[in-house]
Amino acid sequence: MEQNAYQAQYAAFSALTEQRLGELSARFLPAASGIGQAAQYSLLGGGKRVRAVLTLASCQLAGGDPAKAADYAAALEMLHCYSLIHDDLPCMDNDDTRRGRPSCHRQFDEATALLAADALVTAAFEVIAAAPLPAGSRVAAAAHLSCAGGARGMLYGQELDKHYETVRATEAQLLELHAHKTGALIAAGVELGCDAADAPEITRAALIRYARELGLVFQIVDDILDVTSTTEQLGKPVGSDAANEKTTFITLYGLEGARRLAADHNEAALAALAPLGEPAEFLREMARELLQRDK
Ligand code: IPE
Ligand code: IPE
Ligand code: MG
Ligand code: MG
Ligand code: MG
Repeated sequence: MEQNAYQAQYAAFSALTEQRLGELSARFLPAASGIGQAAQYSLLGGGKRVRAVLTLASCQLAGGDPAKAADYAAALEMLHCYSLIHDDLPCMDNDDTRRGRPSCHRQFDEATALLAADALVTAAFEVIAAAPLPAGSRVAAAAHLSCAGGARGMLYGQELDKHYETVRATEAQLLELHAHKTGALIAAGVELGCDAADAPEITRAALIRYARELGLVFQIVDDILDVTSTTEQLGKPVGSDAANEKTTFITLYGLEGARRLAADHNEAALAALAPLGEPAEFLREMARELLQRDK
C-alpha cells in the first residue's frame, strides 16, 4: 500500500473515531458534571487512536462496515484513556503531562481524575450495550473488552509493571508484562473489529496473532522513546521509566538490543498476516509505521 493511501485511510479512521467520541461524550459524559468535564478533557484531548483504528481496520478487513464498528472503537478508546489517567497518578507513574497538556490530576485534582477515569470505564460498557449491532455481537464485545482491560489483561500488566520497579525482570517476565499491560488492549482492538463484522474464526485467529506481536512492538518502542525523545515531541514526560526505576528492554539490552527485539516482533506481526493476503495491506503498513513512530 502506498504511504499516501495508508495515511489517508488512517486519517479517515481516526476522524470517524473523533466524531463518534464527541457525540458519545455529550451523551455519556455530560459537561454538567465536573467528572464529565474531566473525562472529556482527557478523552478528547488528542491521542493517536491506534486501538480504535485497529478496530475499524479489522472490521473492514473481515467484510464489515467500519461505520457500524465506530462505537466499539470509541468504547475501546474510553477504556484506554481511563488507563492513562490512572497510569499518571502519583501512586502510579506520577507524570504531570499527557498528550501535550497537564495530566488529568494536574488539570483538576486527584479525586476528580480518579472518578473521571471510573466514569470512562463504565461509559465504555454502556456505549457497547447501545451500539447499532446485533445483541450477540455486543455481548461478545463487552466480554472481550472486559477481559482485556481487567485482572487477566491490562490491569495485571500494570501490577507487574509496579512489581518490577523494585525487582529486576528477566526477558520472559518483561514480555509477559508488555503482553498484558499494552498487548491486551491492542489485541482488544482487533477482537472488537471481528465482533463487529462477525469475522470467521480463521480471520480472527490471524488478527489476534498479529496484534499480540504488534502490542509488544508498541510497548518496546514506547520504552525506547522514553529514553530517546523529548517531552515536546511525545506530549508526556521522557525519562519517566528511569525516574521510577522500571526494568525495560533498554535497561536489559541497551537501545540497540531493544530496537532489534522490536524489529523481530514486527517481523512476526507481518508473518501472522500472511494468510490474509492483500486485504491486510493496511495492517501491514500500520505495523511498519508503529515500529518507526517518533511519538
Ligand atoms: C500510551 O499509549 C500507553 C501505552 C500503552 C504505551 P498510546 O501511545 O497509544 O497513547 P495515545 O493514546 O496515543 O496518547
Ligand atoms: C502504560 O505504560 C500502559 C497502560 C496500561 C496505561 P506506560 O506507563 O509506559 O505508558 P506511558 O508511557 O505513561 O504512556
Ligand atoms: Mg505506567
Ligand atoms: Mg506511564
Ligand atoms: Mg511509557
